Amino acid sequence: MKTILHIDASVRSTFNDNPRHQSISKNIAKRFIQTLKKQSNIDEYIYRDVGINPPAFINQDWIGAVFTPEEKRTTAQKEILALSDQLIAEVSAADLIVISSPMYNYGMPAQLKAWFDQIIRINKTFDFDLARGDFPLQPLLSGKHLVIITSSGEFGFDADGIRANQGHLVPHLRTLSKYLGVEHIYEIASEYQEFADARHQNSLENALNQAESLAEKLIFVDQKSPATQLEYK
Ligand SMILES: Cc1cc2nc3c(=O)[nH]c(=O)nc-3n(C[C@H](O)[C@H](O)[C@H](O)COP(=O)(O)O)c2cc1C
Repeated sequence: MKTILHIDASVRSTFNDNPRHQSISKNIAKRFIQTLKKQSNIDEYIYRDVGINPPAFINQDWIGAVFTPEEKRTTAQKEILALSDQLIAEVSAADLIVISSPMYNYGMPAQLKAWFDQIIRINKTFDFDLARGDFPLQPLLSGKHLVIITSSGEFGFDADGIRANQGHLVPHLRTLSKYLGVEHIYEIASEYQEFADARHQNSLENALNQAESLAEKLIFVDQKSPATQLEYK
């Protein structure tokens, strides 16, 4: 079973009459998915554009429903959680998750955060036990691979970059990915968009090439265990 879950988070479209307005992160993710589909037999491909069709923000009623035991939930509470249930089912089914995201205000778009807020849910994607001491949360999913594709206007957000302390997008995605059951992470970044110079062209070309080569190298390996595993060579 090889299931890909692809989440795009830019509010911009892949295509635009003015090519300068096209989403960079979505186009890199598209290159990755197109190459992957050529290389591997994909059983299921699930796509969500949360940038253009964002999930609802959670609210007080949502939290009330989550903390009501399942057997005691009213019909209204079940309806409130229906989207969350669906999004969690998509994550659970995925062997490989691809998240493409712009950097907005040094972090992720609110639309993508709304998606995570619907998914990281007690007794669904993590459980909570004070017997574990200072680390009571434990993820319930495991074994997944995550490709993070980002685009930013500025540059130098790597650990050794000139804006290392301002880059909250990838570190936040890495932290949250644990609760999606992610155990292997690959990163592709395009930078310098706001400078619109040769550095941007190089960065974008490198990112597109990396997307292709990663998709070519990520191969599915059916192991003896029931779970399908991916290997990066
Ligand atoms: C609302 C908004 C906030 C942004 N904030 C940042 C930022 O904090 N740092 C940065 O480097 N670029 C920032 N940018 C630039 C985007 O990251 C850049 O345009 C990127 O290419 C957008 O991704 P997309 O091309 O996939 O839509 C921002 C752009 C917008 C529209």
